[in-house]
Amino acid sequence: MSRVLHISDTHFGTEQPAVVRALSELSRSLAPDLVVLSGDVTQRARRGQFSAARAFLAGLAVPTLVIPGNHDIPLFNVAARIFTPYGGFKRALGAALEPVFSNERVLAIGVNTTRPSRHKNGVVSPAQIERVCARLRQAGDEQLRVVVVHQPVRAIVESDTSNLLIGRDAAVAAWVDAGMDVVLGGHIHLPYVVPLSGPSSRRAWAIQAGTAVSHRVRSSIPNSVNVVEHRIRDGLAQCRVQRWDFDAASAAFAPVVSTALDLSR
Ligand SMILES: [Fe+2]
Repeated sequence: MSRVLHISDTHFGTEQPAVVRALSELSRSLAPDLVVLSGDVTQRARRGQFSAARAFLAGLAVPTLVIPGNHDIPLFNVAARIFTPYGGFKRALGAALEPVFSNERVLAIGVNTTRPSRHKNGVVSPAQIERVCARLRQAGDEQLRVVVVHQPVRAIVESDTSNLLIGRDAAVAAWVDAGMDVVLGGHIHLPYVVPLSGPSSRRAWAIQAGTAVSHRVRSSIPNSVNVVEHRIRDGLAQCRVQRWDFDAASAAFAPVVSTALDLSR
C-alpha cells in the first residue's frame, strides 16, 4: 500500500510548537512513502523561517516534496523579490522548484504555480501543463499519480473563487486525461475533497489541505492534514483520503473524516 501525508501552508514564523510536535509524531507513526508540502512553507520568506521549516522536514526522516507558495517569495524586500525571488526557498529546501518523486507505489509531480509579479495569484502555464502530462504518461500501472500545486483548482464556497489557480481548467482536463489520480493544493486554509473529470471518462480528485501548524487558521477550522492511501487489490485500485485534525485536548492529530476515492484504471 502507498501512503502520502499531505500537509500545506505551514507558514513557519507563525507555527505552534505543540502542533508541530504532534505533526512530527503523526508522520512517525504513519511512516508515509512521501510527505508533500503544497506551499506557503513560511510566513514571510525569512531565513530563520526557512531554517525552521528545513529542520522540521529533515526531522521527519522520510522523503519530502515541497513546492513554493506565494508567502515563500519576499514581499517587502523589493530587490530580493525582483532578482532572487526563490533564493530563500532554494537555500533551505533545495534547487528544485518543481520536484518529482517516484517510487514503485507513488509518482508525485510538483508544479510551481507562484509568480513573483502576480503577488498571491497563482498561474499554471501551457508548458507546465505539458511537462506534467509527459511525466504522467510514463507512470507505472501500480503508481498512485499525484500532482501538487499551491492554489486550488476548485472552490466549494463563492468567496474562494478569486483564489483559484489561473489556467486550472486546461490543466485539469489535460492532467486527468494523462492519468492523474489526485491533485493536492492549499492556499486558502480550507480542507475539502471534490471529484474532477476530463474530456474522456477518466475520474480524478482535487484534495485541499488546511493549514498544518500555523495559528493562521480560517475561522473555527482547526489545523489539519490529509493522508492519501492507495493499493491495487485483485486488479482494482482502492484509494481513500483521510483528514486528520489537530485536537488541542489530546495535543495530537486525530482522523475526522474518510473519503473513498473512485479511481480510473
Ligand atoms: Fe498561499
